[in-house]
Amino acid sequence: MEHRKIYIETYGCQMNLADTELLIGLLKPHGYEQTQTAAHADVILLNTCAIREHAEERILKRLKELVHHKVRRPGVRLGLTGCMAQHYREQLLDKAPFLDLVLGPDAYRNLPSLLAQEEKDEPLVSVRLDRDETYADITPLHGEGIRAWVTVMRGCDKFCTFCVVPYVRGRERSVPLNALLHQVQELADQGYQEVVYLGQTVNAYRDGDQDFADLLHKTAAIDGITRIRFTSPHPSDMSDRIIEEMATDSKVTPYLHLPLQSASNSVLARMERGYTVEQYAVLVDRLRAAIPGLALSTDIIVGFPGEEEADFRATYDFMNMLRYDFAFMFKYSAREGTKAHKWGETMSEEEKGRRLQEIIRLQERLSGEINHHTIGQTVHVLVERPAKRQEGWMAGKNAQFKTVVFPGDGARPGDLVPVRIVSATAHTLIGQP
Ligand code: SAH
Ligand code: SF4
Ligand code: F3S
Repeated sequence: MEHRKIYIETYGCQMNLADTELLIGLLKPHGYEQTQTAAHADVILLNTCAIREHAEERILKRLKELVHHKVRRPGVRLGLTGCMAQHYREQLLDKAPFLDLVLGPDAYRNLPSLLAQEEKDEPLVSVRLDRDETYADITPLHGEGIRAWVTVMRGCDKFCTFCVVPYVRGRERSVPLNALLHQVQELADQGYQEVVYLGQTVNAYRDGDQDFADLLHKTAAIDGITRIRFTSPHPSDMSDRIIEEMATDSKVTPYLHLPLQSASNSVLARMERGYTVEQYAVLVDRLRAAIPGLALSTDIIVGFPGEEEADFRATYDFMNMLRYDFAFMFKYSAREGTKAHKWGETMSEEEKGRRLQEIIRLQERLSGEINHHTIGQTVHVLVERPAKRQEGWMAGKNAQFKTVVFPGDGARPGDLVPVRIVSATAHTLIGQP
């Protein structure tokens, strides 16, 4: 059978990457295979993000670049999926009237039947959110390598006032535990060694009376899986049982991404994050006491409506005190439909930029110092691939999820290699086997 070809570009977070694997898995039984070249594709999809504004500008620009494939090769379908498709819906069609398909995150099941329809002048739009859709019965086509991303819950019920996710991904719902264990067993059988559990509030996972700690515990019992990670946990859902599981289960890696957003209590309250900076600090103390060598990363937003200089300084000082291993830092971007959108912008883009640069500089210094301290230590690297810069070198991650490069010496992807760290930058550790 002649396969039809699908080309997908993915934007946004890991959950979107996992959804791209889901889309490809969904289309495979219908005779589609993936291509890495848009010029070979029968179907071109952009799987999009809506978290910040510039993401959307980028997508519209990219769509306008891709539309020539439709002109040159009649029959090619151009579609938009993901969070921005859900966010913009009809509005989008004014800006990109040449689109054939617009599909929100809970409408992917419809893709094969929509593609089977005759081409129409009007785009096919499917953006109903479905509080029960988990795609538990669909097998995603996982990418090559040693690491597999597995979505364990979809949506979010937290409604932080800056965030569009609850509106574009809908209500929180978890994939049944047995379906997940079955999926991970299959991944282990295929040779994957690391699973990364995904969800916007991944640690709020629940199936009946079983929670995220149970999921971690049962996953660790699967032979062949050697490392278990997850992202993003919400500080308010970080239960004692999960901490205990991280502390006692050697497969659950000592690394945690724990988004803070701001260290000013008045900003946190207006963000409706559900914790104070003191509660967050106590949580980190408990985590660090329970899990030796724990690496921490975070997300920070600067320029939230009403963020005064003193609020920003509180964030700066807290980061300096807490010493994250690394951080993702963003300028606040007002999103239509959210509560904070109504409060408008209270700061110029220049001022946001200044604040952002200040914490980026701070974090570069801290990451550099922290990584420098690892010099002389021996770490265990799960090898992933050849290093990009040096011929003959290999790259992988240590248990703290830091990239380590070292002279290859016969190491292959999947090997666990003890490596002595001999130098370090803010982003990479350099080692000798
Ligand atoms: N569920 C995760 C966050 C997912 S979004 C959590 O609650 O921790 C990833 C990050 O994008 C957020 O942590 C936040 O720092 C950033 N972000 C979300 N909305 C934003 C906005 N409107 N403007 C700027 N950054 C935003
Ligand atoms: Fe957005 Fe808050 Fe949900 Fe994270 S927890 S996805 S920031 S609403
Ligand atoms: Fe973006 Fe949607 Fe992820 S808005 S960050 S792709 S959940």
